[in-house]
Amino acid sequence: MATMPPQRGRTKNGAHTTDTAGKMSGEAETTLLEPRTPVPPDEYATTFREAEEPTVEVKVGDARTIAMADDSADLVVTSPPYYKKRDYGVEGQIGQETTPKEYVDALMDCLKEWRRILRPTGSVFLNVGDTYVKRSLAGIPGRIEAAAIDDGWLVRNRIIWAKDGGMPEPAKNRLAGRHEYIIHLTPRSDYYYDLFGYSQDVGNGANPGDVWRINPERNMGRHLAPFPREIVRRAILLACPLVVCKKCGTPKSRKVARTDQLDPTRPQAKRAMELAKEARLTPEHIAAIQATGVSDAGKALRVQTGTGRNAVTVQALAAEAKKALGGYFREFTFARKVTVGWTGCDCGDDAPYERGVVLDPFMGTGTTLRTAYSMGRTGIGVDLNPITDENFTGFTSQPTLDQ
Ligand SMILES: C[S@@+](CC[C@H](N)C(=O)[O-])C[C@H]1O[C@@H](n2cnc3c(N)ncnc32)[C@H](O)[C@@H]1O
Repeated sequence: MATMPPQRGRTKNGAHTTDTAGKMSGEAETTLLEPRTPVPPDEYATTFREAEEPTVEVKVGDARTIAMADDSADLVVTSPPYYKKRDYGVEGQIGQETTPKEYVDALMDCLKEWRRILRPTGSVFLNVGDTYVKRSLAGIPGRIEAAAIDDGWLVRNRIIWAKDGGMPEPAKNRLAGRHEYIIHLTPRSDYYYDLFGYSQDVGNGANPGDVWRINPERNMGRHLAPFPREIVRRAILLACPLVVCKKCGTPKSRKVARTDQLDPTRPQAKRAMELAKEARLTPEHIAAIQATGVSDAGKALRVQTGTGRNAVTVQALAAEAKKALGGYFREFTFARKVTVGWTGCDCGDDAPYERGVVLDPFMGTGTTLRTAYSMGRTGIGVDLNPITDENFTGFTSQPTLDQ
């Protein structure tokens, strides 16, 4: 975290401002509106450089009984066989059940097992589609969601995976299906989630929403139903920490703070910065505005504010700043946010950490494992019949630690 300079200054009309002890001060001594120092983009990688290298492991077996310890994975991202779509010709396969209910029951048995394996902060991203049975959609995704809720899961999102193209369909009296679902399930409400990192990568900083427009990849190899790497990448960005504490399993989570940096291309923001400069407002004035928010009866009166100052002082600084800025003070309440560090855990700063673990219990060709590894996570795949021949290469290159 950047240290704050001493806060002295003058308001626009030349009035002296108060310092944190409430004393009047003379000439401003601070450089005005210096940015609060964000963590450099590559520091995440540097910070966790010492974590053990990620690995990749394939297990032959059933998605309902996996040889993994309790609390040993951070994210399940997978694409099970769809109901009545494709016969994989292997004993014990899921997807060929007689009724939708039996199919959903089989997936619930899977979820039970994955819940055991997931850490309490874990998530499942389940790619499912629907099937026409006797000319009607069977409603499979909705049935899965309802059954999962009944089993105690939280359905956090039903993401629409929209595709521009797809297989031609012979039907003449209905539209061709051009979407599937990615259901995000969690066992608990305090799951690991990096919306900030994801939004910066996938969007423009705002929440990018629950429709993923991703086209199927051309080079799918000889497997009939692999899913695009981009789906896995997004799930990992959102819900798989790069590292977790080896002792207690707590993920390192991003710490985000609002800066005093505004977008100078917006006229209101530009004017707000001019006024702040004229009034010689300090970064602590801006922090005080952000702590109190747009309401004068802000929370700073009641709580410690994160600005390192007591509530009364923060309130006084905010009042000064608001007086100098007029209506433009609002601009600073939605200033850019930056990463300022990562959380620790009770095991202390020296505790060893290990890579986040991504599990794909229907791994097929290993799309998930390859993507996890390339993002610096450990990948574990399970399949009754894993396809690890010519498609299963590429783990020799150094994984990236980029976020
Ligand atoms: C839709 S494919 C997965 C495709 C994969 N996402 C990819 O990108 O290649 C489904 C896979 O589930 C496997 N499978 C079917 N029933 C299974 C079960 N009970 N346990 C584990 N794997 C199973 C099949 O062998 C098949 O490889």
